[in-house]
Amino acid sequence: MDKKPARPFRSREWFADPQRSDMTALYLERFMNYGLTPAELRSGKPIIGIAQTGSDLSPCNRIHLELARRVREGIRDAGGIPMEFPVHPIFENCRRPTAALDRNLAYLGLVEILYGYPIDAVVLTTGCDKTTPSGIMAASTVDIPAIVLSGGPMLDGWHEGELVGSGTVIWRSRRKLAAGEIDEEEFLQRACDSAPSAGHCNTMGTASTMNAVAEALGLSLPGCAAIPAPYRQRGQMAYDTGRRIVEMAYEDLRPSKILTRESFLNALSVVSCCGGSSNAQVHIMAMAAHAEVELEPTDWTQHAYELPLLVNMQPAGKYLGERFFRAGGVPAVMWELQQAGKLHGQCLSVTGQPIGENLQGREATDREVIRPFNDPLMERAGFLVLSGNLFDFGIMKTSVISERFRNRYLKNPGQEGVFEARAIVFDGADDYHHRINDPALNIDEGCILVMRGAGPLGWPGSAEVVNMQPPDALIRRGIETLPTLGDGRQSGTADSPSILNCSPESAAGGGLSWLQTGDVIRIDLNAGTCDALVATEEIERRKRDLPAPPVPASHSPWEELYREKTNQLADGATLEFALKYRRIAAKTPRH
Ligand code: FES
Ligand code: MG
Repeated sequence: MDKKPARPFRSREWFADPQRSDMTALYLERFMNYGLTPAELRSGKPIIGIAQTGSDLSPCNRIHLELARRVREGIRDAGGIPMEFPVHPIFENCRRPTAALDRNLAYLGLVEILYGYPIDAVVLTTGCDKTTPSGIMAASTVDIPAIVLSGGPMLDGWHEGELVGSGTVIWRSRRKLAAGEIDEEEFLQRACDSAPSAGHCNTMGTASTMNAVAEALGLSLPGCAAIPAPYRQRGQMAYDTGRRIVEMAYEDLRPSKILTRESFLNALSVVSCCGGSSNAQVHIMAMAAHAEVELEPTDWTQHAYELPLLVNMQPAGKYLGERFFRAGGVPAVMWELQQAGKLHGQCLSVTGQPIGENLQGREATDREVIRPFNDPLMERAGFLVLSGNLFDFGIMKTSVISERFRNRYLKNPGQEGVFEARAIVFDGADDYHHRINDPALNIDEGCILVMRGAGPLGWPGSAEVVNMQPPDALIRRGIETLPTLGDGRQSGTADSPSILNCSPESAAGGGLSWLQTGDVIRIDLNAGTCDALVATEEIERRKRDLPAPPVPASHSPWEELYREKTNQLADGATLEFALKYRRIAAKTPRH
């Protein structure tokens, strides 16, 4: 490697500014208190940040506390100086009222760290859902060389000889509990058995999806996303990642050179072929916005609806992370896209090579798990964007729509893909839980369950609550799913046929705010429309005469600020004002 950096390291401005030796002394001295030497910090080697997302509060990423040791060794061996620091914790399942609040908070914190400290390049440790986009968003805003290291999924979970996948087992067991097939103790045991080791969700939920996205974007080393957390290859990947980021620092290989419209389209394609999470829509829009890449909400239909489902992994399929890894992981999925002419192979990656070149010899080794492009698990299995009088944007993940559901709702002779359903409207999750089993609602298989008040402003933060299950009585009759619709999100591990992320949300005055129980909703998947069959005059009357649906007060300073500054899910729920700050590391902060 040429040891002269392509652009002077920014850390030199802290540690070797000839004009301000007084400041240099101040900047340096406290690093001595754990044993660094002035010579080290002034040697001209790059300072490599390790953005540590693991902690006791973020168990999905906790493996990074150990992996960081191998990252450090890689950095040292390649001639860099590692500096590890904490990132605001994000734990999807436990954070109330929702972890979605934390993505933008972690983003803001990380921007300030990467900008305000003498860091030349950074390893973004990722895992749990929002730790990936928040890190990438921050790296884009600051624009210093950055590489993603996933912590990897947990080992496969087993319960009484059956694969139990993270999250998915919860939604499925919840139905069994409602049907009286299992008791609460059995429910808890199934949940615990789905989490057999360190790592993030072992399903193709939002965590696996977002790490696949990072890899598809070219931001991690090939094969990084799918390695299970406890496998030896994970530690080796940590070491290689540490080595590579030092080279990237010398090459000045920054996110702005890697992230392009084409690389984002690659990510959309990979999400679709993986049967990935609908939350990817929100995070990809946010990452693209911060990377100053033009992406339209409708790009999901344009570029990713026609694609087939290739990965046989829960919730859309059968298997879990270990099988996916052994089958070849994300490179094998991208290899299929490449063979089918559906990959922008010229996109640059963190290897310094075009992403297409990284895929040589990466064909899948287990066709039960990663199917060939021309013999998929399901045709046209991507994401469909809908709009109509209820919202301008809503997205449907079609890979989880079961054959049974398709037959019941979508196979009307002569009208395939079109159905009408009676709306049952809930104002938030508490309202749903209080009333779903109320016989007066008269819920039957002709209904669609609607959740409002679950968006960025309404919740606040936007919650994963749209995947509502039918009333117990219906489940006992064998109706395990009803179509659902809402202005919130759905867990990436859910297998519910839902129209999600509807924007503008009810709390922002969107169409869901005037919808009433009993209104008929017509969904036309061919035309991409979703409308309430309510006359315009009646809509106007309701807007005029009826009170707006309730919105809970903010309970913390950040909730209030989040509500003030965040845009809608269609646009990524980004902090609108932050988008004017681009590539800020081009200028180092003042002394
Ligand atoms: Fe953290 Fe799924 S809850 S990865
Ligand atoms: Mg989630």
